[in-house]
Amino acid sequence: MLTVLDKTFVPFIGRDTLQERISELADQINRDYAGRCPLIVGVLNGAVLFTADLLKNLTIDCEITFIRVASYEQTTSTGNIKEILGLTEAITGRDLIVVEDIVDTGMTIAHVCQQLAEKGPASIAIATLLFKPAALKTKVDLAYVGFEIENQFVVGYGLDYDGLGRNTKDIFVLNES
Ligand code: IMP
Repeated sequence: MLTVLDKTFVPFIGRDTLQERISELADQINRDYAGRCPLIVGVLNGAVLFTADLLKNLTIDCEITFIRVASYEQTTSTGNIKEILGLTEAITGRDLIVVEDIVDTGMTIAHVCQQLAEKGPASIAIATLLFKPAALKTKVDLAYVGFEIENQFVVGYGLDYDGLGRNTKDIFVLNES
């Protein structure tokens, strides 16, 4: 059991299961990108632990960078604008693997990929640890998915509730009972 602020969470995905699955995803990436040198683009803050553990299991040549997504309201009907911050590398002609903690509505990753695409990379693939298919509101092509989960709120292993709860080795789910 984990308490974060006013909510309690129960164990959901344990550390061993996480690490086994991440190692499988890395094996797929090692195969798919053999002979290439992808740039791993971790999306802060949530993907920090997943990105690090994925990287530890990659045996191909690769580079790593991190970006952050700033969200601000827009007055038209398209809702929030999401702007990427922190990308200092030239990505033209590069193979990018964007690493996210979780894809919920998909809006964040869709905006991130759209903005990266404008800079002319050779390719963009998405790796997400968690995916909530029932919450998806936009079309996104997810090349590497750790776990598909139901529409539940989770914390831990990088994921937060109001900024807290990121610093665990396991993932927990909101206790609704
Ligand atoms: P999306 O734009 O709706 O796909 O939301 C993606 C972002 O929302 C993630 O990067 C997380 O920061 C946050 N998020 C979505 N679901 C959860 C959750 O269950 N726990 C913690 N954060 C979440």
